[in-house]
Amino acid sequence: GTGEVREAIAGKFRRENGLNYMADDIVVANGAKQIIFNALMATLESGDEAILPAPYFVSYPEMVKLLGGTPVVVECPETTGFRLTPALLEKAITPRTKWLFLNTPGNPSGAVYSEADLKALGTVLAKHPQVLILSDEIYEHILFDGREFVSFGKACPGHKDRTLIVNGVSKSYAMTGWRVGYAAGPAPLIKAMSTIQSQS
Ligand SMILES: Cc1ncc(COP(=O)(O)O)c(C=O)c1O
Repeated sequence: GTGEVREAIAGKFRRENGLNYMADDIVVANGAKQIIFNALMATLESGDEAILPAPYFVSYPEMVKLLGGTPVVVECPETTGFRLTPALLEKAITPRTKWLFLNTPGNPSGAVYSEADLKALGTVLAKHPQVLILSDEIYEHILFDGREFVSFGKACPGHKDRTLIVNGVSKSYAMTGWRVGYAAGPAPLIKAMSTIQSQS
């Protein structure tokens, strides 16, 4: 992404999500899917685990497997509103956990995490500093029934140095064919993802 577009995205995060990122904390790619792929490519070692709360976007486990990682699927039942709970998260974390994927609002269930839900997950994550958090927020504007969207970054600012906020224009602006996705996160990860992107 050019400096100008990354500045504009930093403005979007400030305006819509209450997040403070500089243009250098942002990377742009050909869709959120490529953003996620690049993040995994930059970080996953063979056998690393990625926790995927189910039901999930179908591409998540395939990307993890393609890069030698192990998807750890956590079934989130209707009784929890198809959301990951702190107890389910705690049970799924192992010393090999590299990523926790969160998707709010979620595809395909439509589950939306409240600020309290996210903070409760953040409390568990505080005990496991090796876990990176990928918060896929691409459906942030697709909300019904008075639901409110809160970014994981806003709910858990204490985890900013290991959180990747993923977003894009495919859903909010029905611009799927434009292939524009972006992310904000810790500088070393963003730098590695930018390098991968520029070589792709
Ligand atoms: C949860 C989720 N994340 C990411 C994507 C990928 O979006 P993009 O078109 O930006 O690659 C999708 C597309 O279906 C999705 O459902």
